[in-house]
Amino acid sequence: MGERYRVMVVGLGKRGVHHATAFHANPRFSVVGLSDVDEGKLKDTARFGNPSTGTDPAALARMVKPDVFCFCTPPTIRYDLVKIGVESGARLIAFEKPVAMSSAEAMRIKALLDKGGAKAVVSHQHRYGAHYRKTAEIIESGALGRVHTVYATASGWMLHMASHLIDYMRWFNGGADAQWVMAQAAGRGKLTDLHASPDYIAGFIQFANGVRGVLECGAGAPDVPEVDYWWRKCRMGAQGSDGFAEVLTGGGWRSVTKTGCSSGEGSMNYDQDMPQYIQEMADWLDGAAVHPCNFESAYKGHEIMMALVRSAMLGGQVALPLASGMDELALLKQKLPEAKVLLSTPVNAKEYGV
Ligand SMILES: NC(=O)c1ccc[n+]([C@@H]2O[C@H](COP(=O)([O-])OP(=O)(O)OC[C@H]3O[C@@H](n4cnc5c(N)ncnc54)[C@H](O)[C@@H]3O)[C@@H](O)[C@H]2O)c1
Repeated sequence: MGERYRVMVVGLGKRGVHHATAFHANPRFSVVGLSDVDEGKLKDTARFGNPSTGTDPAALARMVKPDVFCFCTPPTIRYDLVKIGVESGARLIAFEKPVAMSSAEAMRIKALLDKGGAKAVVSHQHRYGAHYRKTAEIIESGALGRVHTVYATASGWMLHMASHLIDYMRWFNGGADAQWVMAQAAGRGKLTDLHASPDYIAGFIQFANGVRGVLECGAGAPDVPEVDYWWRKCRMGAQGSDGFAEVLTGGGWRSVTKTGCSSGEGSMNYDQDMPQYIQEMADWLDGAAVHPCNFESAYKGHEIMMALVRSAMLGGQVALPLASGMDELALLKQKLPEAKVLLSTPVNAKEYGV
């Protein structure tokens, strides 16, 4: 067994517990520190191997000096924690999507990481689902012929879901960079949510390899009736000259190619997706392959998301990479029309309150 990496996890809510559990279960890591501003979350931590605990992440990081600084806090807390991670001397910083609340914040985080030199990963771990991997495998095999379109829809709203969708669209398109986007957005209901977003955003992405990306996220996105669990009503895949392959987050995969139709099961499952996501951090630290959820790739996805917002609010096409930062959520609050969002299906009425 190689070096055992010391890990500190900040934010012990739903995702922090997933991360601490997966790190503790992997012999390549030992959980040495757990932090949450809510003292109540630090009571039952013996199950993670009796790590040090504290409500001040910076003080705890200085004390335990982790190799891996991981944080799973609400989306409004990103830059300050990346800074704590960099200052702690951690070799890898792992954090939750979305990358940031704006392009301006994402650029500040990127500058901090570029200067500090730590590796970084962002948790787009759905990709470890067997149904996601099967879809990617079919696309990568060439069975679709010339891929011309990648697409993704989700019923959930942008800051929750678009980060995932764009990451997997880029994966299904060989990681190609985007050259420009164009979009529309509607509905102010979710602007006050912690994951502040338009109720619905839809747009096109021009990728450098000529492939078209089509994204829809929110109340107006088409239903995925094959999936019951509302948050897993997501459909993404690729179309080519010889067929298509797609994955439903909560409903397996399917493809039609020249050799026939095929399909299989699978549903997003944290317990199954986390172990490999965590293992590949050890592999990257060991000097093996770069982690597929690396920050550089996640940053490009975040840029696409923020460019879609700019296009929807300011009109026209938006060129990528973005030349300078902006507060896109402030722009949404200022310019998004008052008209209520129109639903694609009554199934969305409860979540969007219309
Ligand atoms: N990758 C995925 O599949 C996935 C799924 C759900 C949520 N998420 C993302 O994970 C992040 C966290 O979501 P969650 O559902 O675990 O939230 P949560 O509310 O369950 O947990 C957040 C925790 O962070 C703590 N916290 C808040 N501010 C803090 C600070 N300054 N220092 C230390 N601790 C602090 C809170 O007390 C809470 O315990 C969000 O960004 C969300 O978008 C990702």
